Order: sequence, then C-alpha cells, then structure tokens
Amino acid sequence: MRLLLSLGLLLPLLFLSGSVQVSGGHNITEILAEHPEFSTFNHYLTATHLAGEINRRKTITVLAVSNAGMAPLLAKHLNVYALKNALSLHVLVDYFGAQKLHQLNGGTAASSSLFQATGAAPGTTGFVNITNHRAGRVSFAADSAPANFVKSIKEISYDLAIIQISSALSSPEAEAPTPAPAQVNLTTLMAKKGCKTFADLLVATGDAENTFESNVGGGLTVFCPIDQTMKAFMPKFKNLTADGKLSVLLYHGIPVYNSIQMLKSSNGVVNTLATDGTAKNYNFTVQNDGEVVTLKTPVMLAKITGTLIDEDPLAVYTIDAVLEPRELFKPEKAKVPAPAPAPTAKAEAPTKSRKRHHASPPAPTGPEEAPADNQKAANDESAAGGRARAGPWVAAAAAATALAVAAVVVA
Ligand SMILES: *[C@@H]1O[C@H](CO)[C@@H](O)[C@H](O)[C@H]1NC(C)=O
Ligand SMILES: *[C@@H]1O[C@H](CO)[C@@H](O)[C@H](O)[C@H]1NC(C)=O
Ligand SMILES: *[C@@H]1O[C@H](CO)[C@@H](O)[C@H](O)[C@H]1NC(C)=O
Ligand SMILES: *[C@@H]1O[C@H](CO)[C@@H](O)[C@H](O)[C@H]1NC(C)=O
Ligand SMILES: *[C@@H]1O[C@H](CO)[C@@H](O)[C@H](O)[C@H]1NC(C)=O
Repeated sequence: MRLLLSLGLLLPLLFLSGSVQVSGGHNITEILAEHPEFSTFNHYLTATHLAGEINRRKTITVLAVSNAGMAPLLAKHLNVYALKNALSLHVLVDYFGAQKLHQLNGGTAASSSLFQATGAAPGTTGFVNITNHRAGRVSFAADSAPANFVKSIKEISYDLAIIQISSALSSPEAEAPTPAPAQVNLTTLMAKKGCKTFADLLVATGDAENTFESNVGGGLTVFCPIDQTMKAFMPKFKNLTADGKLSVLLYHGIPVYNSIQMLKSSNGVVNTLATDGTAKNYNFTVQNDGEVVTLKTPVMLAKITGTLIDEDPLAVYTIDAVLEPRELFKPEKAKVPAPAPAPTAKAEAPTKSRKRHHASPPAPTGPEEAPADNQKAANDESAAGGRARAGPWVAAAAAATALAVAAVVVA
C-alpha cells in the first residue's frame, strides 16, 4: 500500500519533469559546451544530428577538433550530408582513453568510425588508423594527412572518451558529393505501410504535407494512426473546420527526432507541429509502461504499435487511435449528456459504444420513438416496449463491441 502511495506521488513528478533522458548516459553537446574552443565542432555535431547518435551509443571515442582546426574542413563548403560523413570519421565506435592510446598493442590499431558503422563508407574507408609512434606521439589517419593526439578532454571509463586531435580528418570518400539520404517521401512511406488514410489526408489538407516534409531536416517524429482507426474517425474529422482539420493532422507530428528508445525512457509533455509557440497548446503526454509507449491527451489514449522508420532525423510510428487534442474534442463523459428518461440499459451502455453510436449515423429510429407512441407501447406491452426503446442502443453497442473485437484481432 505504502509503495503504491509513493508511486502515486512520484509518477506525476515524472510526467512534469518532461525531460528526455539520454540512453548512453552522456550528452556530448553539454560536455563540449564547457570548452568554448570546440564550439564550432560542437555546433556541427548538432547540425548534422551526430550528437544524438553519439549520445545513444556506449563505448565510443570522439576526436574533437578546435575551432581553428575546423576552418580548413569548413572552407571546403561541403553540403551537410558530406560534412556529416567527414565528422563521422571523428567518432570511433570503441573506447580509446589517453592511457589506452599510449599503450596500443603492437603500436597500431584500426578503429571503425561512425562513417563505417552507418554503412555510408565505401569499402573500409570508414576506418581510422591509430599509430603509437616512438616518443609518445599518437596519430590518427583516415585516407588523408594524419592528425596528432593533443590532449584528453573528458573520459568516462570504457563508456566515452573525448580527446582533442590537431586537425580535422577527412577523406575523398567522406567528401564525395552526398545526396540527401534516400529522400524518403513521408506520405508514400506511410501509404505503403498501413497509414494510407492518414497519408491521403496530409496530401489533401491545406499545407499539412509540406509542414511535415519541411520539418524532416531538423528532426521529426510522426505518429500515424493505422487505416482502420483513421477510417473510423472520418465522420468526426469531416465535422471539423478547415483549421481544425489541419490542427488535428499537425498534432500527429512532433518537431524533434525521437528513437523508440528515447520514447521509452522519457515521460513528459511534448509540443507538436500544431503547437502555437506562445500558447504552448496542442501538446500531449508521452508515457511509458515498460515496453509500451502511450500518448495521452485529456481526451484519449493511444498506444504505439509499430515502427515504419527510425533513422535520425526521422522516425514514424503507427498508433492505434487518432490523437484528439483537448482544444478540439471533449472527454467522452462531458460530451454525452445523460438522457433524461434513463432506463437501466441506457445508463449502463459503455462509453465506447456511446462514442461509436455518435460517430456512425444512427439507425433510423423513426417517429415511433416519440413519447406518445412509446407510452402507448408501454401500456400495451410494457416489457416489449422497453426493449423497443433500448433497441437502437443495444444494437449499436453490440455492433461497436463486434468492431472493437475485430480491431483487436486484426491489430
Ligand atoms: C543535450 O544538451 C543540450 C544542451 O543543453 C540540449 O539542448 C539537448 O536537448 C540535450 N540532449 C539530450 C538528448 O538530452
Ligand atoms: C591503415 O592500416 C592498414 C593496415 O595497417 C593499411 O592497409 C591502410 O592503408 C591504412 N589506412 C590508412 C588510411 O592509413
Ligand atoms: C510525395 O509523394 C506524393 C505522391 O506521390 C507527392 O504528391 C508529393 O509531392 C511527394 N512529396 C515530396 C516531398 O516529394
Ligand atoms: C458533428 O458536430 C455536431 C455539432 O457540434 C455534433 O452534434 C455531432 O455529434 C458531430 N458529429 C460527429 C460525428 O462527431
Ligand atoms: C499544454 O497545453 C495547454 C493548453 O492546451 C497549456 O495550458 C499548457 O501549458 C501546455 N503544457 C505545456 C507543458 O506546455
């Protein structure tokens, strides 16, 4: 009991904090921020999304270059993707603290870099050769002039080493003109993988598609409701104003990249593409319960059911319910006024079936439902009359249950 109580106190605090934890336990951006002489290098780690990649990994070495050392690399005016490749050479997927570097077995080592690890490097051009020369000089070479070890900046034993090297590494392969990584067409991808209804709406609604596409570069996470769910939602969607429609669609994207691991390790309120910066509205809460990640608004709860793509800077997940912002929808209870004459059957109708009942055009109940007729029916045959009145509700409830069961089976 006491445990439950304290959990109850703790959970809201967790949700309030809203911080995104780092899975590798380190934040390269914050560490380098303490060393202004690496601000340029640090800036480009963020701009190329390598910072996130570094933070997610363990057992890693970052070869940092001073602002002056970055100048020759920047003077080449590489596009952001080629620059990313070149900077990827500065991230070794192994731990090389100063001590290990100066005690290299046999004096040399070839380490795989992120350029190699991400599969972007042709052949073995993503390897960096490390050589421990006589007199304690240690050099690093990609396919170009080597750079020397200068000093250790920070070492977290066997997790993260950040060391300074004398100049930027590069190679013709890393600098090769690089197109944007297989330009994913968001809507095509979603349409192919079970979110066609949502994708079609993005294309058809104002500049929804443009807003999503133009956010990919800076990091984007999309939650797309699977077709079944989206189709069932269409009557409600059509009911919205043009502005409301756009807002609901934009509500399904958040303007930062979140891997599934990041979502699993974070609880908190997130802003969406529909959020107005000053009002901070159109937000929702990411919650996780073990392996399950849920998205919660004051109106409903959705569960992440699958991943369509998860490649920094873009992640697209499927969800099992359409996200309804509080700005446009009311919680079920507030929305359904209790009907005045409330026979037990009605009062006990589960919320879900009420919702379905509202969402689908009600079966024609006809004028025979008028109180006078009803009264007459009740007089004639009270039990049957009662059932006739409850009829449409019961039928709708049964249909809704059948739908719900079907949805679960298919999902
Ligand atoms: C790392 O730190 C920077 C600067 O404080 C912050 O903007 C960023 O969100 C942090 N990254 C993570 C994954 O926490
Ligand atoms: C790295 O070392 C290997 C073997 O020692 C050598 O074949 C390769 O050419 C070297 N690469 C560079 C870029 O120095
Ligand atoms: C994605 O594909 C759709 C349909 O083929 C097209 O209308 C849209 O312009 C494409 N978007 C981008 C950004 O290429
Ligand atoms: C459409 O809007 C009207 C008026 O707000 C409401 O009564 C009706 O239930 C809505 N229909 C759906 C399907 O949400
Ligand atoms: C979430 O949105 C509501 C308005 O709907 C706003 O009052 C609230 O401050 C927002 N919360 C955060 C954490 O931004």
